[in-house]
Amino acid sequence: MFATFFTCVVSALLIYYLLTKRRNRKLPPGPARYPILGNLPQMAKAHPFGYRAFHKLSEQYGEIMSVKVGLQEMVVLSSHKVMKAILDKDEVSGRLWTGILEDRSFGKELGIAFSSGDLQKQLKTFVIKALREFGFGKSASMESIVELELECMDKRLRSASKVNGGKVLMERFFQPSLMNVLWTMMAAKRYDHDDPKLTKLLEINSGWFQTGSFGSGIITAFPFIRFLFPEWTGYSSLMHGNRKIHQFARDIMQEHRSRGTYKTDPQSFVDVFLREIDNQDGDLTTAFTDEQFMIICYDMFQGGFETSSNTLAFAILYMILNPEVQTKVQEELDSVCPSKKTPILLSQRTKYEIAKLTYTYATLMEAFRMSNILPISGPRKAMTDYTYDGYVIPKGTAITFNTYSVMRSKETWGDPDKFRPERFLNPDGGLNSLVDLIGISWGHGRRSCIGEILARTTVFMYFTYLLHNFSFRRVHDTKLPTTEPIYGIILSPQPYELIVEQRS
Ligand code: HEM
Repeated sequence: MFATFFTCVVSALLIYYLLTKRRNRKLPPGPARYPILGNLPQMAKAHPFGYRAFHKLSEQYGEIMSVKVGLQEMVVLSSHKVMKAILDKDEVSGRLWTGILEDRSFGKELGIAFSSGDLQKQLKTFVIKALREFGFGKSASMESIVELELECMDKRLRSASKVNGGKVLMERFFQPSLMNVLWTMMAAKRYDHDDPKLTKLLEINSGWFQTGSFGSGIITAFPFIRFLFPEWTGYSSLMHGNRKIHQFARDIMQEHRSRGTYKTDPQSFVDVFLREIDNQDGDLTTAFTDEQFMIICYDMFQGGFETSSNTLAFAILYMILNPEVQTKVQEELDSVCPSKKTPILLSQRTKYEIAKLTYTYATLMEAFRMSNILPISGPRKAMTDYTYDGYVIPKGTAITFNTYSVMRSKETWGDPDKFRPERFLNPDGGLNSLVDLIGISWGHGRRSCIGEILARTTVFMYFTYLLHNFSFRRVHDTKLPTTEPIYGIILSPQPYELIVEQRS
């Protein structure tokens, strides 16, 4: 029975391989492909982490490389130049939607992060506009929300510094706080940092990210495999997580509907979206349905704070590993900003004191570069054949951009694996143009990240406030924590302990 089934699967894959075998001779260069497995053997040999495997292979095949990940045809972009040249083109503005991405949205292309086409375009514009009403992307309003959250973070760290010798476990430590910043605008709601229901949900969310890898995992290679081996591939736990997060979104919807005030006095994005659903009079062909709402909520829940909080946790980790950098940042903050208790506003970058915080800013850019928490984002998809520099990217091909290759390029940085903020400074102490390269972390073009300003603002405000008011040290007589990430779609630091001390 199993032998027959196995023979059928292998024969089907072989036929598929022969039919789809490099018909297009103008594909970008890439390693020779094996039947069925494509380039999986070379990738596995290059590195167990997909993005590092792509990086190694691209050193051999170039900044635009063609690979076959199991059954999936893929083009990998590996330089800043080629990313800037291609990512803003309409032809590559789709998003690959397979495997775990189908499962998270009821098998339909919904939401704004992983869908393609006109509906996605319409929804993305609507979401940004609606969120702006509640402060999103508007520096002054966003910053006042962050200020409130910083007050709570301050209390939390001050009490932590007084017990157990100030020892704190950094494991999803910043997530509830950064979720509150976004959820104030999304749903006019904030959560207690110790809320057990939220803690569980955040754990599930991190688990979701750690099960997969965009562009290179086994489910990307052979999407059907998740049904055959649900436990081994993590499919069962992903589905469990999906159900929990769907329920979370459903509860929000119900809560706001039963309150009813969304019709006359909308207080958040959720209210505005519900009002729009009402305006459609139950027409399920529009962009405004309950299911769309749930998946947009899911998009925001997933993209909106795991990213920034992991970056911040890495930034603090780099501070305990590089105490001399931490001291220099603190000295700069002390000399430029007299009041520790007043958070520093990124929107006032041109103001006298921000312009003088160049070492601090360079340190943060170095933390963004080294942590690079989303090395491969949800892959794009070519909507039509697209030609670049004589190479053809055929319709339907997945296009990934590997920012690890930009952030760890030897050619650009010289010593890319070293934490060295000075690389962003001119001899006169001003910032140099290398800071511009960090921007590619948020993508480029019409599919670029909607949360870039929020992420830059929150991470800057948290980082400066925390270092101005506290010092973070390694726990003596223990092994130094590693900067090797937990592998997944979004990279996170491995849980580590530190000592927090209040600064006078
Ligand atoms: C350090 C923080 C973050 C990083 C590095 C990051 C990175 C990215 C990248 C690389 C993309 C894909 C861009 C492309 O294809 O060109 C993306 C898309 C997206 N991000 Fe972020 N992001 C961050 C924070 C956020 C935040 C705070 C939010 C929510 C407020 C957010 C929401 C989204 C959404 C909804 C998309 C999908 C946009 C689309 O497909 O059109 N992200 N992000």
